[in-house]
Amino acid sequence: MVMNRKPALLLAGLAALALVWAGCKGAQNEGAGGGGATGQTPDRDVILIGHYGSMTGDQATFGKSTDNGIRLAIEEINAAGGLNGKKLEVRTEDTASDAQKAETAVKRLVDMKVTAVLGEVASSHSMAGGPICQRNQIPMISPSSTNPKVTEIGDYIFRVCFIDPYQAAVVARFARSSLNAKTAAIFYDAGQAYSVGFRDEFKKAFTQMGGTIVQEASYTSSDKDFKAQLTRIKAATPAPDCILVPGYYTQAGTIVKQARDLDINVPILGGDGWDSQDFHTYAGANITNAYFSNHMATDDPNPTVKKFVEAYKAKYGATPDALAALGYDSAKLLFDAMKRARSLNGPDLRDAIAATKDFDGVSGKITMNAQRNADKSAVILEVYNGTFRFKERIEKP
Ligand code: PHE
Repeated sequence: MVMNRKPALLLAGLAALALVWAGCKGAQNEGAGGGGATGQTPDRDVILIGHYGSMTGDQATFGKSTDNGIRLAIEEINAAGGLNGKKLEVRTEDTASDAQKAETAVKRLVDMKVTAVLGEVASSHSMAGGPICQRNQIPMISPSSTNPKVTEIGDYIFRVCFIDPYQAAVVARFARSSLNAKTAAIFYDAGQAYSVGFRDEFKKAFTQMGGTIVQEASYTSSDKDFKAQLTRIKAATPAPDCILVPGYYTQAGTIVKQARDLDINVPILGGDGWDSQDFHTYAGANITNAYFSNHMATDDPNPTVKKFVEAYKAKYGATPDALAALGYDSAKLLFDAMKRARSLNGPDLRDAIAATKDFDGVSGKITMNAQRNADKSAVILEVYNGTFRFKERIEKP
């Protein structure tokens, strides 16, 4: 194209102005590609929400369930008219069960100029994505990351679930009081903040309750054969009355199977990371005497839970897990805050989320405490021949 000098100068001036403006915005718009925004201009009639989750990889059921829950919530919100005539829309970015990819996924959502971010499930992934939301002043709500460090990132980072010091104490209480275990071994995932934090908190709680940890061993997410560590655990003296495996379902299911194959028959305990129908694929259908803490039981007869389970089944033809419920709750709570917020800009929306009180979630009543966490009770589920069933509720361990 041929241009005469004047428009060219004008263009150069505009470009310079744009640069200055971008500079003033500081980190406001961090691009995924490092070479400037690749994002689309948001549609003014739509409120765009971002979700980053493990849609593929060895935590794939976490992302898929959460995304289903979020989409169900958004469908209901839009059917009821949306917000001031605007519809909500969600963009999902896959983290592929990988912390580094989680970071890139959030950068992509920032480029798309989302109003808020939902995710991730795994604590290590939320710890990778959270700082980007914090720097860009975009509120982030993790549905289900339980490591305390996630919300310690800053005042834009929230969660709708309890945290691991509580969850691990619940499991310790169950071991001591319901199983009468005096000794325990711990077999944890050294590469996951969730697993390492859970180990620490369980150790603290179990010993405070008069128990003794007799053996510790670790694995990483790429391991497939756990027999060497399990054999060491089996040989510990005194013998463990139970084994804690605070990992995610792919490895935890395999570990439970291999433990039984080695004739290790003591109770095996876990946390919410076991919650996946795929657990049974790895563990096999004949596992008993294994228990884990979770956010809720989806067979709870409570009317809010029932209504959600029925709506979910109608839409997806499957029974939801706790992750689906927490994904749903995170989207509904975000929307509730949007309705109360003075505007949808970052600081105003952050303030509205922080002010959430007694929100009636499927996973329980949610009040944001001063640390931006939710104080809620936990349940113990039992692994029983290819299913999970409600065992007990523990309010105060
Ligand atoms: N709490 C786990 C974490 O922080 C994630 C999780 C939550 C997994 C709920 C399953 C169910 O990493």
